[in-house]
Amino acid sequence: MCIAKSDGSLAAAPPADKPQQQQSSQAKPSSSKRLLALACLLLLIAVITIVILLGLLASRSCDNGASESDGLQSRRSPKSLTRAVYLDESGKACQHQDIRLPKSLLPISYQLLVRPVLPSQGQKTSVNFGRVKMMLNCSRPTDAIIFHVGAGIRISDLTVTAAQRLDEVSRQRCPSLDLLYIRVSRQCTTGELLNVSLSFEREIEGDKLDGFYMAKYKDKNRALRYMASTHMEPPEMKATFDLEVIRDWRYKSLFNMPLARTVPDTRCSHLTNQSGCHRDIFQTSVVMSTYLVAYAVLPMDYVSLQKVVKTSRGSIQVGIWAPSSSQNQLDFAMSVTEKVLPYFEDLFNLSYPLPKLDMIGVPQFAAGAMENWGLIIYRFSTLLYDPNYTTTIDKQTIAEVISHEIAHQWFGNIVTMKWWDELWLNEAFAVFTQYIGVDAFKPGWSMMDRCYVEFVASALQTDSLLHSHPIIVPGLSDPNEIESMFDDISYFKGSALIRMLDAVIGRRTLKRGLIIYLNRFPCRNAASSDLFAAFSEVRWIRFLENRTYGS
Ligand SMILES: *[C@@H]1O[C@H](CO)[C@@H](O)[C@H](O)[C@H]1NC(C)=O
Ligand SMILES: *[C@@H]1O[C@H](CO)[C@@H](O)[C@H](O)[C@H]1NC(C)=O
Ligand SMILES: *[C@@H]1O[C@H](CO)[C@@H](O)[C@H](O)[C@H]1NC(C)=O
Ligand SMILES: *[C@@H]1O[C@H](CO)[C@@H](O)[C@H](O)[C@H]1NC(C)=O
Ligand SMILES: *[C@@H]1O[C@H](CO)[C@@H](O)[C@H](O)[C@H]1NC(C)=O
Ligand SMILES: *[C@@H]1O[C@H](CO)[C@@H](O)[C@H](O)[C@H]1NC(C)=O
Ligand SMILES: [Zn+2]
Repeated sequence: MCIAKSDGSLAAAPPADKPQQQQSSQAKPSSSKRLLALACLLLLIAVITIVILLGLLASRSCDNGASESDGLQSRRSPKSLTRAVYLDESGKACQHQDIRLPKSLLPISYQLLVRPVLPSQGQKTSVNFGRVKMMLNCSRPTDAIIFHVGAGIRISDLTVTAAQRLDEVSRQRCPSLDLLYIRVSRQCTTGELLNVSLSFEREIEGDKLDGFYMAKYKDKNRALRYMASTHMEPPEMKATFDLEVIRDWRYKSLFNMPLARTVPDTRCSHLTNQSGCHRDIFQTSVVMSTYLVAYAVLPMDYVSLQKVVKTSRGSIQVGIWAPSSSQNQLDFAMSVTEKVLPYFEDLFNLSYPLPKLDMIGVPQFAAGAMENWGLIIYRFSTLLYDPNYTTTIDKQTIAEVISHEIAHQWFGNIVTMKWWDELWLNEAFAVFTQYIGVDAFKPGWSMMDRCYVEFVASALQTDSLLHSHPIIVPGLSDPNEIESMFDDISYFKGSALIRMLDAVIGRRTLKRGLIIYLNRFPCRNAASSDLFAAFSEVRWIRFLENRTYGS
């Protein structure tokens, strides 16, 4: 699959265009790795995105409480919309009028170097400098290179290189779609590799909780400290990511993947003594979607509770991070994680593919939590548990949010929806399996009995409103429309539907269908029809289907 653990537990994925019958006649083991790598690449649905961005979907909510009501305002039927023409910075029509990128160039890898300059005490502004190099594979001849660049990012030193010469002819920036459109002097040839490099610079803002942002908190001595973390929300595409972070000795950095090594650097412009300047180099990521890329730069005051969690398939290094003043509030999160993570591996018959899982509590965060692969970010209130102060209901919420985010490591991270119109494939499954996970953690809490009051009822309520919408809304393209998908319908009506399915076909059959679905599309994108096809392969459902249609 996406790589990492080689315990052979990930079944080879058949090419998507093959009819999905029995999977037994696979490629031989020797060639299956190549086949897998290929399958991963072929299926990238090319939304090429620079990693440092993007206020696009800022109010994405990942716990079941937060900001659900935001989604309720602007529901219209997309079909009835007459679309505006998107304009560039100078008022001309954008040459590419769609937030979805063409599939003519598919990203293979991103190499990212960042140098966040966080403010020293008293000083307000801070800037994130960096450079990104994207390797793109030409799948259809085109002379247009199009990718996302978030508003507020200044770019410079843009170069496009290929084996044969190719020059930039014109450039257009479309802030309304967060797009950069580059026309080059000739069409690429199929299979040709293009390297696009650019430098970027963006103010790190504390009040806008998107892109790479800064949060502050008071430490034990009540001094103001700064940390920065990401909350990135661009649409789908999959590639590998390499990250290097230049930081001074007062910070440490975290990424989706473990640190490979730290070397001395001399580019800490704010330091007079460069011997305190370091560059953290991280391991190359698995093939993943950009919206899951995350890194955090934490003050040394941050501490972690570390544990090697043993599962039936191996072991995972789990770290729970918080400021030192909250050091004694990390145990509960660890006890949930060490139970739920191995439980989900067995439930889905699929290994957690990364060597580590870090969870960070941050002071200011747009959603309840975000499921970045291997680096889940929480608000303090959804991670930290203090037996002396936390109420019982909050304790349950913490367990649910953690279980939800861990469920996303499969639903969303390993198998990702093709496009945001099928968000329920991520969110509804994460909501439903969050209950299954907490139920395994604390059977005495009777989690499955709480589903009705906790999400079915709110789904019914929202669904009774005029602006309700189907669970799947085909044809979504406007960023605001996408944002409004993060609502009760995707989360709760979707999970109510899965709950009904669970009740009708039984947990064992549900589980078998999910195993087929998840194991068929590792590190790829799937649609609802793929899910239904997986369920249809479980015999019981065929029987049910025949009954339903009266045959
Ligand atoms: C789980 O996966 C293994 C191979 O990785 C397979 O042999 C086994 O049958 C699977 N179990 C279920 C319940 O699908
Ligand atoms: C580029 O894509 C083509 C198919 O379009 C594939 O055969 C080739 O292996 C890809 N190149 C790389 C380096 O992934
Ligand atoms: C593109 O980048 C890759 C990896 O950094 C490098 O190996 C390759 O030589 C570059 N190709 C061109 C044409 O610059
Ligand atoms: C720079 O910092 C190092 C330790 O980080 C210290 O040993 C050295 O003396 C410092 N140099 C100056 C000029 O302050
Ligand atoms: C809870 O309060 C007791 C008594 O004040 C104290 O000993 C204990 O350390 C506190 N527990 C935590 C986790 O803060
Ligand atoms: C369902 O109906 C189809 C077509 O009539 C038939 O081929 C299939 O065997 C039936 N499945 C079951 C489980 O009865
Ligand atoms: Zn979620």
